[in-house]
Amino acid sequence: MNGDINLPREAVITERIQDSQDTFTMRLSVSGVDRFSFLPGQFNMLYLYGVGEVPISIVPDGDSHNSFDHTIRVVGRVTNGLGELQPGARVGIRGPFGRSWPIDMAKGRDLLLVTGGLGNAPLVGVMEHLVKQRDEFGHVDLLHGVKQDAELIWHDRYQKWATLPNTRVLLTADNPSPDWSGSQGTVVDLFSQLSITPQNTTAMLCGPEVMMLAAIERLRGMGVVDSNIWVSLERNMQCGMGKCGHCQMGPKFVCKDGPVFCLSEISGYFGKKGI
Ligand SMILES: Cc1cc2nc3c(=O)[nH]c(=O)nc-3n(C[C@H](O)[C@H](O)[C@H](O)COP(=O)(O)OP(=O)(O)OC[C@H]3O[C@@H](n4cnc5c(N)ncnc54)[C@H](O)[C@@H]3O)c2cc1C
Ligand code: FES
Repeated sequence: MNGDINLPREAVITERIQDSQDTFTMRLSVSGVDRFSFLPGQFNMLYLYGVGEVPISIVPDGDSHNSFDHTIRVVGRVTNGLGELQPGARVGIRGPFGRSWPIDMAKGRDLLLVTGGLGNAPLVGVMEHLVKQRDEFGHVDLLHGVKQDAELIWHDRYQKWATLPNTRVLLTADNPSPDWSGSQGTVVDLFSQLSITPQNTTAMLCGPEVMMLAAIERLRGMGVVDSNIWVSLERNMQCGMGKCGHCQMGPKFVCKDGPVFCLSEISGYFGKKGI
């Protein structure tokens, strides 16, 4: 079992995969734990010894019980250092933390998943749940956008998900190369290809806030109510457990009350400057 999630534990890197120029995956196994349990959308605080700790979404590694993936874009001090580590190296982890996607509430309904950039990481767990339990849901649309096609990771996963029954996968790139077989434009442009039943659709969004705000506007325009729209948010985090206040948004702590929120809970704060 997981043990005390608040205490730092040691994890060993069993594999390292370079996904794209600036993004890599470390496959981790937690020392002394035979089953590391987590829910889709949860995250770990990942500690690069002597440098610092960062929140990173947990991505399932197939059917493995004690190993999982962290897929990381190199943006600064800690992620740079993590990117240097090779198999056999050790990191600290605390977690899993945070609220997951509302999979149980969405059962029997259509799903619309909208992601941009590395915003697809927290939703891999939802898609892998669908692979095992496809008959629990109605129609599924998965929309994903990248700036350039070279940034698209997880080609095999997208191909596999596109073969699921009653499931449509739409990929787009803002500035594609001539080899790109998906659409051109932003992920919100893909909404023109949708034909949804708004009252029966649960939408799950993750990506840059500007993208999510534009998607929310389109969803509302199509008749999807806020109580059926869920977003995963990113904020600067220090403790990951509701103690330090760094991730506060209005009265909510993104680490503890989120990172997955129902839009109706946060519509007074989300996207508002200064909150
Ligand atoms: C719940 C949660 C899940 C996350 N999951 C992932 C994941 O799966 N993979 C991944 O690569 N990243 C993920 N992130 C973002 C990741 O935590 C940051 O990129 C990381 O903290 C940056 O640390 P750093 O020391 O490398 O960069 P820093 O030196 O701290 O910052 C470098 C630059 O990145 C910007 N930055 C820092 N943190 C963030 C952030 N949270 N969002 C946007 N810009 C930021 C800074 O403003 C600065 O410009 C997640 C964040 C949250 C809150
Ligand atoms: S990160 Fe400390 S309260 Fe959320």
